[in-house]
Amino acid sequence: MFVVGSDHGGLELKQAICELLQQRNLPCADYGTNDSDSVDYPDLGAKVAQAVSDGTAESGVLVCGTGIGMSIIANKYPGVRAALVHDEFTAQMAREHNNANILILGGRIVSVEQGVKLVEIWLDSQFEGGRHQNRLDKIAAAEQRLQKQ
Ligand code: RB5
Repeated sequence: MFVVGSDHGGLELKQAICELLQQRNLPCADYGTNDSDSVDYPDLGAKVAQAVSDGTAESGVLVCGTGIGMSIIANKYPGVRAALVHDEFTAQMAREHNNANILILGGRIVSVEQGVKLVEIWLDSQFEGGRHQNRLDKIAAAEQRLQKQ
């Protein structure tokens, strides 16, 4: 299952991403926000990141104005590899090299059309494994060490 969330700065793009996932018959839970009232991005980012971290969801998409705030909060959750992408190349690399399980976009950085395209690229790309898996293993090991401190 996918989980998606945004603050007010990412609402329009988040709604378009939900439509994309529905068109592709990918089960998706929308964790909000659902109107243009100002909300705090850590609240929405935490909900989505928690769901991916604890296995409720396989993957997620988060959108705020720049994507920066969502990146900061999401990457605090164990097992989350959240990637902020702005273009086709970073969307592709986020899967091929980083196997990102949360894709993050800036709703005030990319257009709705471009943002949807970047999600499609991430969905359609394949993790390359190999040396990239070794690097992800090092991230997981660092996370384990930090949790014990
Ligand atoms: C909200 O105004 C804005 O700060 C937020 O959407 C995001 O860009 C934070 O990183």
